[in-house]
Amino acid sequence: MKLGVLFSGRGTNLGALIEACKDEDYPAEIAIAISNNPDAEGIAIAEAAGVRVQVINHKEFEDRDTFDAALDATLRDAGVELVCNAGFMRILTSGFVSHWHNRQLNIHPSLLPAFKGLHVHDRVLESGVRLTGATVHFVRDEMDEGPIVAQVAVPVEPDDTVETLTARVLVAEHKIYPMAIRLVADGKARVQGERVVIQGMTESEAGPLYVPALD
Ligand code: GRF
Repeated sequence: MKLGVLFSGRGTNLGALIEACKDEDYPAEIAIAISNNPDAEGIAIAEAAGVRVQVINHKEFEDRDTFDAALDATLRDAGVELVCNAGFMRILTSGFVSHWHNRQLNIHPSLLPAFKGLHVHDRVLESGVRLTGATVHFVRDEMDEGPIVAQVAVPVEPDDTVETLTARVLVAEHKIYPMAIRLVADGKARVQGERVVIQGMTESEAGPLYVPALD
Protein backbone atom coordinates (compact mmCIF):
# COMPACT_ATOMS: atom_id res chain seq x y z
CA MET A 1 0.00 0.00 0.00
CA LYS A 2 1.38 3.39 -0.96
CA LEU A 3 1.57 5.84 1.92
CA GLY A 4 1.63 9.62 1.86
CA VAL A 5 3.00 10.93 5.17
CA LEU A 6 2.06 14.47 6.22
CA PHE A 7 4.24 16.16 8.84
CA SER A 8 5.13 19.61 10.13
CA GLY A 9 8.05 19.32 12.52
CA ARG A 10 10.36 16.94 14.34
CA GLY A 11 9.42 13.94 12.20
CA THR A 12 10.19 11.09 14.60
CA ASN A 13 7.00 9.24 13.63
CA LEU A 14 7.94 9.69 9.98
CA GLY A 15 11.30 8.17 10.92
CA ALA A 16 9.58 5.20 12.55
CA LEU A 17 7.46 4.63 9.44
CA ILE A 18 10.54 4.83 7.23
CA GLU A 19 12.22 2.18 9.41
CA ALA A 20 9.15 -0.09 9.32
CA CYS A 21 8.93 0.14 5.54
CA LYS A 22 12.52 -1.09 5.20
CA ASP A 23 11.32 -4.55 6.23
CA GLU A 24 10.66 -6.56 3.07
CA ASP A 25 7.58 -8.13 4.63
CA TYR A 26 6.00 -4.80 5.57
CA PRO A 27 2.86 -4.34 3.46
CA ALA A 28 3.35 -0.63 2.79
CA GLU A 29 5.85 1.82 1.35
CA ILE A 30 6.18 5.59 1.56
CA ALA A 31 5.41 7.05 -1.86
CA ILE A 32 5.84 10.63 -0.65
CA ALA A 33 6.32 12.62 2.54
CA ILE A 34 4.95 16.16 2.57
CA SER A 35 5.68 18.98 5.01
CA ASN A 36 3.77 22.24 5.13
CA ASN A 37 6.72 23.74 7.01
CA PRO A 38 9.94 24.38 5.07
CA ASP A 39 11.94 24.31 8.34
CA ALA A 40 10.65 20.95 9.58
CA GLU A 41 13.42 18.74 11.01
CA GLY A 42 11.69 15.73 9.48
CA ILE A 43 12.71 16.84 5.97
CA ALA A 44 16.31 15.83 6.71
CA ILE A 45 15.15 12.47 8.09
CA ALA A 46 13.32 11.69 4.81
CA GLU A 47 16.20 12.93 2.66
CA ALA A 48 18.76 10.87 4.57
CA ALA A 49 16.64 7.76 3.98
CA GLY A 50 16.15 8.52 0.29
CA VAL A 51 12.40 9.00 0.73
CA ARG A 52 10.74 11.41 -1.67
CA VAL A 53 9.89 14.54 0.30
CA GLN A 54 8.16 17.71 -0.78
CA VAL A 55 7.40 21.00 0.92
CA ILE A 56 4.00 22.52 0.29
CA ASN A 57 4.15 25.71 2.29
CA HIS A 58 0.66 26.71 3.42
CA LYS A 59 1.81 30.34 3.66
CA GLU A 60 2.10 30.47 -0.12
CA PHE A 61 -1.62 29.77 -0.56
CA GLU A 62 -4.53 32.13 -0.42
CA ASP A 63 -6.71 29.97 1.79
CA ARG A 64 -7.24 26.48 3.15
CA ASP A 65 -9.11 25.31 0.05
CA THR A 66 -6.27 26.09 -2.35
CA PHE A 67 -3.65 24.63 0.02
CA ASP A 68 -5.67 21.43 0.46
CA ALA A 69 -6.23 21.18 -3.30
CA ALA A 70 -2.45 21.27 -3.86
CA LEU A 71 -1.94 18.69 -1.13
CA ASP A 72 -4.61 16.46 -2.61
CA ALA A 73 -3.22 16.73 -6.16
CA THR A 74 0.31 15.92 -4.98
CA LEU A 75 -0.86 12.88 -3.03
CA ARG A 76 -2.87 11.59 -5.98
CA ASP A 77 -0.02 12.16 -8.43
CA ALA A 78 2.23 10.10 -6.18
CA GLY A 79 -0.31 7.26 -6.26
CA VAL A 80 -1.00 7.48 -2.53
CA GLU A 81 -3.58 5.06 -1.18
CA LEU A 82 -3.39 5.88 2.53
CA VAL A 83 -2.59 9.30 4.01
CA CYS A 84 -0.79 9.14 7.36
CA ASN A 85 -0.74 12.32 9.43
CA ALA A 86 2.38 12.30 11.59
CA GLY A 87 2.51 15.53 13.56
CA PHE A 88 0.77 17.50 10.81
CA MET A 89 -0.22 20.81 12.36
CA ARG A 90 -2.80 22.05 9.84
CA ILE A 91 -6.55 21.69 10.05
CA LEU A 92 -7.77 20.07 6.84
CA THR A 93 -10.92 21.16 5.03
CA SER A 94 -13.92 18.85 5.07
CA GLY A 95 -13.55 18.46 1.29
CA PHE A 96 -10.08 16.98 1.76
CA VAL A 97 -11.19 14.84 4.71
CA SER A 98 -14.16 13.44 2.81
CA HIS A 99 -12.06 12.65 -0.26
CA TRP A 100 -9.73 10.54 1.93
CA HIS A 101 -12.55 9.10 4.07
CA ASN A 102 -11.33 5.85 5.68
CA ARG A 103 -8.05 6.33 3.79
CA GLN A 104 -6.43 8.78 6.21
CA LEU A 105 -4.94 8.03 9.63
CA ASN A 106 -3.71 10.26 12.44
CA ILE A 107 -1.63 9.57 15.52
CA HIS A 108 -2.41 11.41 18.73
CA PRO A 109 -0.35 11.22 21.94
CA SER A 110 -3.14 10.30 24.37
CA LEU A 111 -5.74 7.65 24.99
CA LEU A 112 -8.52 9.26 22.96
CA PRO A 113 -11.16 10.48 23.51
CA ALA A 114 -9.28 11.88 26.51
CA PHE A 115 -6.98 14.86 25.97
CA LYS A 116 -7.79 15.89 22.41
CA GLY A 117 -6.01 18.93 21.02
CA LEU A 118 -2.66 20.53 21.78
CA HIS A 119 -0.33 20.53 24.83
CA VAL A 120 -1.51 17.04 25.70
CA HIS A 121 1.27 16.08 28.09
CA ASP A 122 0.98 19.30 30.16
CA ARG A 123 -2.71 18.59 30.63
CA VAL A 124 -2.12 14.91 31.38
CA LEU A 125 0.36 15.84 34.14
CA GLU A 126 -1.97 18.50 35.56
CA SER A 127 -4.88 16.08 35.63
CA GLY A 128 -3.11 13.45 37.73
CA VAL A 129 -4.09 10.48 35.55
CA ARG A 130 -1.87 7.44 36.09
CA LEU A 131 -2.14 6.11 32.56
CA THR A 132 -1.88 7.89 29.26
CA GLY A 133 -0.87 6.56 25.85
CA ALA A 134 -1.24 6.97 22.13
CA THR A 135 -4.02 6.40 19.62
CA VAL A 136 -4.08 5.79 15.88
CA HIS A 137 -7.43 6.61 14.33
CA PHE A 138 -9.08 7.32 10.99
CA VAL A 139 -9.51 11.03 10.35
CA ARG A 140 -12.88 12.76 10.54
CA ASP A 141 -13.86 16.43 10.36
CA GLU A 142 -13.55 17.00 14.10
CA MET A 143 -9.96 17.18 15.33
CA ASP A 144 -8.71 13.98 17.01
CA GLU A 145 -11.96 12.15 16.37
CA GLY A 146 -12.61 9.10 14.26
CA PRO A 147 -12.67 5.30 14.39
CA ILE A 148 -9.81 3.97 16.53
CA VAL A 149 -7.48 1.43 14.92
CA ALA A 150 -5.03 0.95 17.79
CA GLN A 151 -4.18 2.27 21.23
CA VAL A 152 -1.27 1.75 23.55
CA ALA A 153 -1.21 2.56 27.26
CA VAL A 154 1.80 4.27 28.83
CA PRO A 155 2.27 4.85 32.58
CA VAL A 156 2.62 8.34 34.02
CA GLU A 157 5.37 8.30 36.66
CA PRO A 158 5.09 10.49 39.79
CA ASP A 159 8.21 12.51 38.95
CA ASP A 160 7.46 12.93 35.24
CA THR A 161 8.06 16.23 33.49
CA VAL A 162 6.61 17.11 30.09
CA GLU A 163 9.96 16.08 28.61
CA THR A 164 10.16 12.64 30.25
CA LEU A 165 6.52 11.85 29.52
CA THR A 166 6.83 13.03 25.91
CA ALA A 167 9.83 10.75 25.42
CA ARG A 168 8.06 7.72 26.94
CA VAL A 169 4.91 8.23 24.86
CA LEU A 170 6.95 8.74 21.68
CA VAL A 171 8.58 5.33 22.11
CA ALA A 172 5.08 3.84 22.21
CA GLU A 173 3.94 5.94 19.22
CA HIS A 174 6.82 4.65 17.15
CA LYS A 175 5.64 1.10 17.76
CA ILE A 176 1.94 1.54 17.38
CA TYR A 177 1.83 3.64 14.21
CA PRO A 178 3.64 1.09 12.02
CA MET A 179 1.55 -1.65 13.61
CA ALA A 180 -1.74 0.13 12.93
CA ILE A 181 -0.77 0.83 9.32
CA ARG A 182 0.12 -2.83 8.89
CA LEU A 183 -3.38 -3.80 10.06
CA VAL A 184 -4.98 -1.38 7.59
CA ALA A 185 -2.69 -2.36 4.69
CA ASP A 186 -3.33 -6.05 5.32
CA GLY A 187 -7.07 -5.41 5.23
CA LYS A 188 -7.40 -6.60 8.83
CA ALA A 189 -8.71 -3.28 10.17
CA ARG A 190 -12.01 -2.25 8.65
CA VAL A 191 -14.40 0.55 9.51
CA GLN A 192 -17.88 -0.72 10.29
CA GLY A 193 -20.26 1.99 11.37
CA GLU A 194 -17.91 4.34 13.19
CA ARG A 195 -15.84 1.62 14.82
CA VAL A 196 -12.89 -0.33 13.55
CA VAL A 197 -13.28 -4.09 13.54
CA ILE A 198 -10.03 -6.04 13.54
CA GLN A 199 -9.95 -9.46 11.95
CA GLY A 200 -7.26 -12.10 11.94
CA MET A 201 -4.82 -10.22 14.14
CA THR A 202 -1.75 -12.19 15.21
CA GLU A 203 -0.60 -12.34 18.82
CA SER A 204 2.35 -10.03 18.20
CA GLU A 205 0.03 -7.47 16.62
CA ALA A 206 -2.41 -7.76 19.52
CA GLY A 207 0.13 -7.33 22.32
CA PRO A 208 1.00 -3.65 21.99
CA LEU A 209 -2.66 -2.67 21.88
CA TYR A 210 -3.02 -3.33 25.56
CA VAL A 211 0.36 -3.81 27.15
CA PRO A 212 3.12 -1.53 26.01
CA ALA A 213 6.22 -3.45 25.10
CA LEU A 214 8.66 -0.65 25.80
CA ASP A 215 11.90 -2.63 25.49
C1 GRF B 1 3.43 13.20 18.05
O1 GRF B 1 3.36 13.22 19.43
C2 GRF B 1 2.10 12.87 17.43
O2 GRF B 1 1.35 11.98 18.20
C3 GRF B 1 1.42 14.23 17.38
O3 GRF B 1 2.46 15.11 17.04
C4 GRF B 1 3.70 14.59 17.48
C5 GRF B 1 4.60 14.54 16.28
O4 GRF B 1 5.92 14.16 16.63
N1 GRF B 1 0.32 14.23 16.47
P1 GRF B 1 6.98 13.83 15.52
O5 GRF B 1 7.04 15.03 14.57
O6 GRF B 1 6.53 12.59 14.79
O7 GRF B 1 8.27 13.62 16.23
